[in-house]
Amino acid sequence: MSNDTSGSSRFYFGSDHAGRELKDVLVAHAKNRGFAVEDLGTYSDDSVDYPDYAEKVGRAVVSHPGSTGVLVCGTGIGMSIAANKIRGIRAGLLYNESTARLARQHNNANVIAMGGREISPLQAVTWFDIFVATAFEGGRHERRLEKIARLETP
Ligand code: RB5
Repeated sequence: MSNDTSGSSRFYFGSDHAGRELKDVLVAHAKNRGFAVEDLGTYSDDSVDYPDYAEKVGRAVVSHPGSTGVLVCGTGIGMSIAANKIRGIRAGLLYNESTARLARQHNNANVIAMGGREISPLQAVTWFDIFVATAFEGGRHERRLEKIARLETP
């Protein structure tokens, strides 16, 4: 596993209806920052199932190594549970500035999840920026991630 975060300027976004508004804020923010952004939906307030969007984003991230997924549902919990079922995905639920930093530094998360009904737009963009600005620390954390990867094989 590499420390290189250069591919991390490509982002895939997804949400359910409960996270759509915050997802749209994050999409606009990432575009303003000049990142390559793909918004995989949802695009309206109609009720949808969050695992469908976790799957779209998770599979896109796995097919584009170095990219990052951003998932928003009501709490962020369902999205992180669903995304973590996909082989190769390490999804971290962000709930403050410290977890935004550590999700990258210790866990090298390739997907971040947030709760659209739990946090403000300012918190979301701040945590996104912290995550993006942070590098994976490697070292002892590398070994731990290898152990997580081994859990993916029966
Ligand atoms: C949808 O009502 C809600 O359950 C969903 O957005 C999410 O919070 C699930 O974890």
